[in-house]
Amino acid sequence: MPLPFTSVRLLAPMEGITEPCFRDLVLARNPPAALGGTFTEFVRVVEHALPAHALRRHLGESRSPQPVGMQLMGADLDALAETARRAAEVGARLVDLNFGCPAKGALRGCAGSALLREPRKVEALVRACVSALGELPVTAKIRAGYDDDRLLVDLARAVEAGGAALLTVHCRTRAEAYSEHADWSRIARAVAAVSIPVCGNGGVGAHTDFERMQSETGCAFAMVGRGALADPWIFSGRRVEAAEAARFLLEYADALQARGGAGIGGAAARVKQLLHFWTAGDFIGDDRGAWLREREPERLLGRLAEFVGGAASHAPK
Ligand SMILES: Cc1cc2nc3c(=O)[nH]c(=O)nc-3n(C[C@H](O)[C@H](O)[C@H](O)COP(=O)(O)O)c2cc1C
Repeated sequence: MPLPFTSVRLLAPMEGITEPCFRDLVLARNPPAALGGTFTEFVRVVEHALPAHALRRHLGESRSPQPVGMQLMGADLDALAETARRAAEVGARLVDLNFGCPAKGALRGCAGSALLREPRKVEALVRACVSALGELPVTAKIRAGYDDDRLLVDLARAVEAGGAALLTVHCRTRAEAYSEHADWSRIARAVAAVSIPVCGNGGVGAHTDFERMQSETGCAFAMVGRGALADPWIFSGRRVEAAEAARFLLEYADALQARGGAGIGGAAARVKQLLHFWTAGDFIGDDRGAWLREREPERLLGRLAEFVGGAASHAPK
C-alpha cells in the first residue's frame, strides 16, 4: 500500500497539541520535502463508532500537500473498523492505530499501551481496519513494550501480519513513559524483524538526529514529538530569528481564538504549553520560569509581540 507522505520526516501525534491550528502552522512552515506528514491527536473509540462530524473536527480544514493521518485508539474490533471507514469518508489520507498511550483512561479501556501485552489482539485490530479501509493505508504506532521490551519483535510482526503499511516504534516502553533516555537499538530490532517500512520515534531533539536515527537503526522514516514543540522548524533545520519564532506563537494564539473556539485565556494557556519546550529564536534563554509564571494572557502575548514588533493588537491595554 503506497504511503502518501512527502518526506521521511514526520510530526508525531500529540494529544492536546496536534489539533488543526498547531498542525497547520507547522505544516505551512516546513516544505513538503522537509516534513512528510502528520497525524491528529489520538481519537478514542470505545463501544460505538464515532460520528463523522467528530472525525471531521479532528481532521480540520487543512489542504496542505502533506497528508494528515487520523489516529484512532480503541480495542473494540467493530467500532474501530467502522470508525476507520468513516475517517476515510471524511477525508483522512490514512488511519494510524495507537498502541502506546500510557494514560490511565486508555489502560482502563484496555486500549493504547494495554494492548502491548497482546500481540494477537493488535494483529486482529490492524487487520479489521485494513479490511475496512480497502485502498487507504493503515499504519500502527507502538511503544517498545509494556513493562519491558520482551514482546517488541512479536508486536512488530503482529502489526505487519495484520497488513499495516508502516510501523512506528516509539522506543520507550510504557513503564519508561517519557524518560530522557531513548534506546534506538529497539528501533533497529523492529527494522530487522519486519519487511514493512519502520518509522523510528523517541529522542529526536535536533534536525541532525533524523539522519542519525535513520543511519543507526535502518528505519525508513523518523518521527519527532517534543522536539517540534521546542522548534517547529526542526524538519527543515532552518534557524529562525526571535521575531519569526514569536510570530509563530502569536499566530497560534490567534488561530486558537479564531478557529479553535478558545478564549484569550485558553489560547495563552496553550502557548504556555509550548513555552515549556520552546527554544526556537533563542528568545527564552534563562527566562523560561518568568514566561511560565506570567498569569495575564494579554501580558504574555504582549511580551511575544514585543519580539515581533508592530503587532500592537497583542499589546496589553
Ligand atoms: C503532550 C504529548 C501528547 C502525546 N499524545 C500522543 C497521542 O495522541 N498519540 C500518540 O500516539 N502518541 C502521543 N504522544 C507520544 C508522541 O507521539 C511520541 O511518541 C513521544 O513524545 C516520543 O517522541 P519524542 O521523544 O520525539 O517526544 C504524546 C506525547 C506528548 C509529549
